[in-house]
This record gives sequence, C-alpha cells and structure tokens, in this order.
Amino acid sequence: MDSALEIFQPGLLDDRTVFITGGGSGIGRGICDMLGGLGAKIFIASRNPEKLGVAVEELSADGVTADFIIADVRDYEQVEAAIARCAERFGGIDILINNAAGNFNCPTAELSPNGWKTVIDIDLNGTFYCCKAAYPHLKASGHARIISITTTLARSGWPQAAHAGAAKAGIQSLTNALAVEWAPDGILVNSISPGPIAGTVGVDKLYIETGQEEVMISRVALRRFGKIDDIAGAVAFLCSPAGNYVTGTELVVDGGRQWTFASAS
Ligand code: HXC
Ligand code: NAP
Repeated sequence: MDSALEIFQPGLLDDRTVFITGGGSGIGRGICDMLGGLGAKIFIASRNPEKLGVAVEELSADGVTADFIIADVRDYEQVEAAIARCAERFGGIDILINNAAGNFNCPTAELSPNGWKTVIDIDLNGTFYCCKAAYPHLKASGHARIISITTTLARSGWPQAAHAGAAKAGIQSLTNALAVEWAPDGILVNSISPGPIAGTVGVDKLYIETGQEEVMISRVALRRFGKIDDIAGAVAFLCSPAGNYVTGTELVVDGGRQWTFASAS
C-alpha cells in the first residue's frame, strides 16, 4: 500500500466541499490530492496564480472538481470574497483547512516589527479571518470540520522563529475556543501538528538551506522526515466519520519529535 488514500473508502467525501488556503504547494497540495481523491470538491485560495493554475489543472486531470481564487489571507475583504465565491461555485462549504503560512529563521533581537507582524498576519489573523468568514456556511453543512495546520513548537516556543511559534500558539488557542463555541453548530475544530515533512518549502527553507538537515533528523524519534501523505492521511481521518467525536484536539503527526526535540535542546 503506497498511500494513506488506499485505506479510506472511495467516495467517502463525495458530497463535501473543501476550502483550503495555500493548497497550491507542499502539505496543502497533498491535502488537496487526498480529499479530492476521496471525492470532495476542492477550492484553493492563495496568492500565486501560476502555482494555483497548475494545481487545479493537475487535480482536474485526476478527475477532481477543483477551482481557485487569488487571495491574500491577511486581507479580510479578500478572504470574505474567496469564501463567498467558493460557496457560490460549489454550493456550500463543509471543510475549512487553514494551511497557509509564512515563515523564516531570524533571531528575535534582529526581527523587525514588520517581520513579526507579517507572520502573525498570515498565520494567526488569516486563520481567524477564514474561520469567521466560513462560519455561516459551515454551520449549514451538517458535516463541518475546521482543521488548522500548526506545530508542536507552538507549545515549546520556537527559538529563531518566535514569530511563527507565537502565531501557531494563537491558532491552537483559537482552535480550543471555537471547538467549544461552535460545537452546538455541529462544527468540529481541530489542529494537526506535523513534524518536519520532506519535500516542503518549510523544511527546505528552515533546515536544508541552513545546513541543519542531519541534526533535525536526529531530533526525530523515528530518525527520518515525514511524508506529505502522512499529514494528508491525518486530515482525511478527521474529516471521516471516524473523527465524529474528535474536537478541540491537536493531532500530532511528528515521528515522536516533540519529546526527542525537547530533550535534545
Ligand atoms: C528577517 C525577514 C525575512 C528573513 C522577510 N523578512 N524575510 N526578516 N529574515 N529571512 C521581513 C522583511 O524584511 C519585512 O520586514 C517583512 O518580513 C515582510 O517581508 P516581505 O518580503 O515584504 O513579505 P511578503 O512578500 O509578504 O512575504 C512573506 C514572507 C515570505 C513570510 C516573508 O517568506 C512568504 O511569502 N512565505 C510563504 C511561504 C513560506 O514561508 N512557507 C513556509 C511555511 S513553513 P521589513 O521590516 O523589512 O519591512 C512553516 C513551518 C515549517 O510555517 C516547519 C518546518 C519544520
Ligand atoms: P508552503 O508550500 O510554503 O505552503 C504555504 C502556503 O501558504 C503556500 O502555498 C502559499 O501560497 C500560502 N500562503 C503564504 N502566504 C499566504 C498569504 N498571505 N495568503 C494566502 N496564502 C498564502 O509550505 P509547507 O511547508 O507545505 O507548509 C504548509 C503548512 O504546514 C503551514 O501551515 C506550515 O506552517 C505547516 N507546517 C509545515 C511543516 C513542514 O515540515 N513543512 C511542519 C510543521 C507545520 P502562495 O505562495 O500562492 O500564496
């Protein structure tokens, strides 16, 4: 069995619509392949039209109903318009995936106020904007899920990327609050914390380009980077009926890094 996709029943998400930010690359792209492969309609929002065009073309070639819109999650009006377009195009929204993020290594003493603000705006404010704008559609769904992609470094603190750690910690807190507030509306709200995932901008930029690949692998209990498919499979689980009683949870998919990392630093 090559992909987590094979363990799920074909057509599992046939009647569902997914709104995903940053689904044109990396982990987000893998989530589009997984949920689209299970029958969901996929609507992607992010900034880069070339990347989004290729993603939608490839998804469509695989038989997935997919579309995109250009939107910067830092701008509430753009987010609101993107959500409205998705609901109009596909008749509602059942699953919101908050995946878009920005990050870079920078010692905090050297980080400019705008560098800090940029990452908080993309990760934390963007997640809140999407949740707020999608809420009426999710409430009407009957199968609603919000899944935000975060990191265990939100809990430990993230030296050299304090901006991203703080933003992700905010997302975790928002997740817990919404899990309670929106439970009566039938909306399940969770996060997934990946470990370092091979072949992604995150790992390339933060670990490979900085020469830290080997040390970072040594800080994962399983002694390897994860696969995009590992995260996409976790998302499919939360979207499936097997996830019906899971809300307000951080699902850690990190090869045991959270414990080895803490004991190594
Ligand atoms: C210090 C930096 C910087 C760097 C940008 N800034 N890069 N400061 N070191 N390497 C500062 C700039 O100087 C500026 O502040 C402010 O941040 C905004 O920069 P812009 O380039 O104008 O922003 P923008 O064009 O909007 O780009 C946003 C971005 C960019 C976050 C900087 O990298 C981006 O678009 N990233 C999206 C893709 C990405 O990062 N993916 C990785 C996600 S991985 P001043 O003061 O000069 O105006 C992840 C977890 C990985 O989240 C975990 C691995 C295990
Ligand atoms: P990625 O490929 O760079 O994905 C980030 C996406 O966010 C891009 O597709 C980008 O698309 C979009 N984006 C960035 N800024 C945006 C903005 N202002 N508005 C709208 N979209 C924006 O990186 P990735 O590594 O796969 O990361 C995906 C998620 O996983 C992130 O939440 C990240 O924090 C999390 N994560 C990753 C790892 C890892 O090992 N890679 C580990 C833990 C957590 P555009 O350029 O088109 O805007």
